[in-house]
Amino acid sequence: MPSTTEPISNGTTNGAKFHGIPTSCPSCPEALKYSGSLDQYEYFEITPIIGREYPAVKVTDILNAPNFEQQIRDLAIIISERGVVFFRDQDNLNVADQKRFCDLVGKFSGRPEENGLHVHPIYRDPGNLCLPDGTTDENIYVINSEAQKKIYKTMARRTPDEPRDLSREWHSDSTFETVPSDFSFLKMEESPPHGGDTLWCSGYEVYDRISPSFRAYLETLTATCAQPVFRSAATAGNYEVMSPRGSPLNTGDEFAPSHPVVRTNRITGWKSIFAGVGLHVTKINGVYSFEDQMIRDYIMRLITRNHDCIARMKWSKNACAIWNNSCVWHAATPDTHLVEGNRVGVRASSIGEVPYLDPNSKSRREALGIPIV
Ligand SMILES: [Fe+2]
Repeated sequence: MPSTTEPISNGTTNGAKFHGIPTSCPSCPEALKYSGSLDQYEYFEITPIIGREYPAVKVTDILNAPNFEQQIRDLAIIISERGVVFFRDQDNLNVADQKRFCDLVGKFSGRPEENGLHVHPIYRDPGNLCLPDGTTDENIYVINSEAQKKIYKTMARRTPDEPRDLSREWHSDSTFETVPSDFSFLKMEESPPHGGDTLWCSGYEVYDRISPSFRAYLETLTATCAQPVFRSAATAGNYEVMSPRGSPLNTGDEFAPSHPVVRTNRITGWKSIFAGVGLHVTKINGVYSFEDQMIRDYIMRLITRNHDCIARMKWSKNACAIWNNSCVWHAATPDTHLVEGNRVGVRASSIGEVPYLDPNSKSRREALGIPIV
């Protein structure tokens, strides 16, 4: 009989655990409070549930403000409440400032002090993509759909004779790491006239649409988040994967940590579905295989049946998005092969805390006093 309380194997030192899941974030024991330092900036919400856009703010203005620490911390809170924040026309934002900003968003919002920017595991791949200036940077992941096809050729397509199942695009960044990413910051350097949109779905809201009894069960579960493609790519390319990768706990080439299906966001203190679905989630631990598939299908069904939980970005040149991976999933739209023009993005990610679930934390709607229906 499989256990439903299989301990997670991520080497955490968080102390107290419930069903093998850490129950606190030592570096950020309390939810953070917004101070109002961004109220001067124009913004609009993307939907009632998720997303915000600051249409006229330059990221460099925040970075260079006298009270930049306060503003960046407040922005981290806004990103964590809204899930994702968009900026437009960041033509003056260079890679060094993008990296610094992403790092500071994590640092000023209670990330463990030993962590920093993620290092992509296959940075040494001969096919690793260059930045627009021809250089590479171990903290920057360059997105280019054409070139990525070559790097990931070791990843077999499951149903080559059928239309693609785009639900597999949904994921949370770096879930294959023992300590996954909290914030990701993507800048689109080149964008086709249309196509290549990115979508974000609120894990807070998906959690809120599950019945209390089923939520309580999901809160006992962990999932294995295996991503073997990095090791297979490294073996095929005869190089070592990068290590460590933004945290002393992100080492080696196993890429198969276990994470809680429901986690608490350290900044808002709200519960979100986390490792219940997505590209990097391979198995719900401690249940039979049919049950594993049933749970993951159910959560995916909640995403695809509730499009009011989703914010969509139509990219433009030099647009940026910053999101909190612990409370949203995102999905690229692989339709750029249908149009002329390249889609080139530059992404930095901060590594957050070991995922935890505070059993006393609330859902977003509970915390804000919003009825479920
Ligand atoms: Fe991603």
